[in-house]
Amino acid sequence: MRIALLGGTGDIGKGLALRLARDTAHEVVIGSRKAEKAAAASEEYVERLGDDLTADLASAANAEAASGADVVVVCVPPYHVSDTVEAVADELTGDTVLVTPAVGIDRDDDGFHYDPPSHGSVAELVADAAPDEVPVVGAFQNLAAGALTDLDHELGFDVIVTGDDDDAKATVLTLAEEIDGLRALDGGSLRNSAEVESMTPLLINLAMENDGMHDLGVSFH
Ligand SMILES: NC(=O)c1ccc[n+]([C@@H]2O[C@H](COP(=O)([O-])OP(=O)(O)OC[C@H]3O[C@@H](n4cnc5c(N)ncnc54)[C@H](OP(=O)(O)O)[C@@H]3O)[C@@H](O)[C@H]2O)c1
Repeated sequence: MRIALLGGTGDIGKGLALRLARDTAHEVVIGSRKAEKAAAASEEYVERLGDDLTADLASAANAEAASGADVVVVCVPPYHVSDTVEAVADELTGDTVLVTPAVGIDRDDDGFHYDPPSHGSVAELVADAAPDEVPVVGAFQNLAAGALTDLDHELGFDVIVTGDDDDAKATVLTLAEEIDGLRALDGGSLRNSAEVESMTPLLINLAMENDGMHDLGVSFH
């Protein structure tokens, strides 16, 4: 399977790239607005993984990365997801699964707060920006990049997957479980994404307020 990480040069993109490249045998393409930035990031990840690299890691500008991809993960800040999706829209088809890990977060003196777009959630914003035939899935919002990039960190986290297309959701549920230490849970329809996204500022507040806690995730029992 070909997986494109748009903005795979950033924090969550790097974390997902390293884990997918270590734990799966897929083709993982690092995307960026600039091809040379993607290439530099990809080189860094290859070097970092050394003999642990199991995937086929490549790089390209975002649109080229998305071209022919089975799964496209939009790893950019929430206020740039619409532009990013629209910039690659010509490369997306009804067979492309568009995945969003993005969360709208506001910060003030009290802490971090969920700040969703008017659509209700970033996932619904992505669906609005994507061509109608492209299924959108929410996933990975509650994973901390720090935990993913620390390859010695045993994750033990749940990934909640939301979406309205059962096949697309099944693809992402399976993919998430290929990463060691992740369990994927079906969170229902895309409209349930706000509840998932809203847990991320809670995790950050818990990490900020409690000594010794960092890079938290969720695990349901
Ligand atoms: N960091 C985390 O721990 C974490 C955890 C869960 C979810 N998330 C979510 O994942 C998303 C990305 O977070 P992040 O921390 O990885 O962000 P980030 O490191 O700040 O940025 C990720 C990438 O976004 C691209 N980008 C920056 N400005 C852009 C623009 N104007 N237009 C298009 N692309 C732009 C950049 O890639 P290029 O310059 O290479 O194009 C950048 O490397 C966010 O929505 C966040 O809510 C993050």
